[in-house]
Amino acid sequence: MLLVQNTVEAYTRRFGTGPSAAAFAPGRVEIMGNHTDYNGGFVLPAALDKGTVVAGEATGDDTITLHAADFRRDAAFSASNIERDPQNSWANYMLGVVKQLQQEGVTIRGFKAVVHSDVPGGAGLSSSAALEVATAFFLQQLFPFDRDPMQIARLCQEAENVFVGVPCGILDQFSSVFGVQDGLLFLDCLTLEHSTVKMGRDDIAIVICDSGVKHAHAGGDYTTRRAECMAAAAHFGKPLLRDVSWEEFIAREGELPENQRKRARHVLTEDKRVLAMREAVGKGDTARMGQLLAEGHASCRDLFENSAPEIDFLVEAATVLPGCTGSKMTGGGWGGCTVNLVYADAVPEFQKELAMRYQVKTGREANIYACRAAAGARAVKV
Ligand code: GLA
Repeated sequence: MLLVQNTVEAYTRRFGTGPSAAAFAPGRVEIMGNHTDYNGGFVLPAALDKGTVVAGEATGDDTITLHAADFRRDAAFSASNIERDPQNSWANYMLGVVKQLQQEGVTIRGFKAVVHSDVPGGAGLSSSAALEVATAFFLQQLFPFDRDPMQIARLCQEAENVFVGVPCGILDQFSSVFGVQDGLLFLDCLTLEHSTVKMGRDDIAIVICDSGVKHAHAGGDYTTRRAECMAAAAHFGKPLLRDVSWEEFIAREGELPENQRKRARHVLTEDKRVLAMREAVGKGDTARMGQLLAEGHASCRDLFENSAPEIDFLVEAATVLPGCTGSKMTGGGWGGCTVNLVYADAVPEFQKELAMRYQVKTGREANIYACRAAAGARAVKV
């Protein structure tokens, strides 16, 4: 794997000797299930063939030295006194995992590590989860601890919630840990039951289109949406929107403040769309997939209100291009990427046309690539 090789070379350049251990964790794309995870709902993502590698070795002392190969930054910390670093936000995702493990009773002492990634940052493809999960799988080799894969996903989510301060759900970390080659993943975020969903045909490619418009979750919008969802559930006397039945919601949605009504309607209909999409994907029913993607996007745009004009344009432009079965926004929102299901033989023309139309309309460059659903996090040989 070239990414691993490059990380090892960067480590050797920076520290003079080779690393003793390394781990890889992928980014993810959410096909359906937007903002359903922290509501206890359903999600249908895939892990990507893009990810993050962490490579390094234990030092035997108390110092943690981290080096970000992609922007040539160094940061040093004391393992016995981990604190958030406002100057190096990238390091906090790694430190959060260290701190979380320590709080769970795992002894983590000094180490040196290099991190290198090909997941575009701030694009809604979970570069942060990839970094957390790669860090956990790396640390497990240096300071062995017993955790099953779901526990690793949960501890990485906890690190992001508590240490980094982003109240995300489990979607990203789950996808990064559980990815399957050429398989979509289904997760019930309430029971944590999960399964693999194979696409019922092999002529469809997942095409991601990065608008170049950056989102920032630590900002207030994600937190506000989450609070609105929780308030709507509380109105029905339930801890989560997942516990509110559709019939109950329909009967009483008029009682809710308008913003809460719209957020809850999005979440409850999105849960139904995830189940319908799982079925359509399994059957290879492209017409149904396209319809669900269109409905999902409209729901984000009009009810959850987490799209952006550039993203709406990309979805509209993609939908009319030859070979595109459907398009929607993906990830946290307010920028980032769209996900498109496109007949494989139409991909090159689709990429060219969409990039051109986006450039003409917005003056921005879109980064468009076909990707494969890929395997999840793992230790890698150095
Ligand atoms: C971000 C969060 C996830 C999830 C998505 C929206 O990626 O990190 O937990 O809420 O947004 O589906």
